[in-house]
Amino acid sequence: MKRIQLFEFEDFHWLPPFIRSSITNLLALLLKMLKTKDVVATLILDIKKQYDFNQIVDLGSGSGGVMIDVIEEINKNSNTPVNLLLTDLYPNLSVVNRINSANIKNIHYREESLNATDFKNASEGLKTMMNSFHHMPPKAAQKILQTAQKNKQPLLIYEMGENNIPTLLWWLLLPISIVIMVVMVLFMTPFVKNLTFKQIIFTYLIPIIPLVYAWDGQASLVRMYTFNDIQNHLLKGLQNDSYDWTVNRVENVKGKKQGYYILGVPKR
Ligand SMILES: C[S@@+](CC[C@H](N)C(=O)[O-])C[C@H]1O[C@@H](n2cnc3c(N)ncnc32)[C@H](O)[C@@H]1O
Repeated sequence: MKRIQLFEFEDFHWLPPFIRSSITNLLALLLKMLKTKDVVATLILDIKKQYDFNQIVDLGSGSGGVMIDVIEEINKNSNTPVNLLLTDLYPNLSVVNRINSANIKNIHYREESLNATDFKNASEGLKTMMNSFHHMPPKAAQKILQTAQKNKQPLLIYEMGENNIPTLLWWLLLPISIVIMVVMVLFMTPFVKNLTFKQIIFTYLIPIIPLVYAWDGQASLVRMYTFNDIQNHLLKGLQNDSYDWTVNRVENVKGKKQGYYILGVPKR
């Protein structure tokens, strides 16, 4: 496999919740800037034509990421709205309460932890994983794919980037990449939605958040599964007559690459 199992601070249970949320807030802003909502909504509307569902269970939701905008887009012109259930292994109660108390139509954030590797008992509907699949080591990643297929659940995994840089070059460029990302965070922070005083302090006075974001962002790149990793390792032995797997790149309306997806759909 090309993917390497580096650590991300986000994966440590001891990471203070406000730092974890600051990181996912920044990610949500980046996804907004890249207009990821449009490509993900288009993908989901296409899946709905093949396999109808009235609920999406998002795994590893962080601060909600792109999914809140996606569900609004999907329900915009629909008479049968789709519900969105956000979940995470480390749900941050202040984020959960903010989203739930905002009473956004058809959206709820689950207060209890949900491990993405253990979704077989989660509510029915399309399971989504937005930029969280690379957090799963190979055994866990395989378990997720197997669970979807075994339980005949549709599953959409989306990653906003691709692990296509030679790993040695990635290591060589790492110091400069970290500096670029730290500077990016300094410029992005004022535009973060629900910006807290703590996030400002730990960005500009004690710059822990920019450093954590920069490392996690860079580590994410080489933790992503390549097409070869997915097809020849994770999906090996999973192809069968009752379930379809597709792995493909995503392009926006201007034809610009915007990551890739893995889609599993039960055959009807
Ligand atoms: C990079 S963030 C992505 C957040 C959001 N989906 C987005 O696109 O902005 C990854 C999220 O996955 C969560 N996560 C990591 N391991 C997980 C697991 N085993 N089960 C569920 N969530 C997990 C983390 O807590 C974090 O919120």
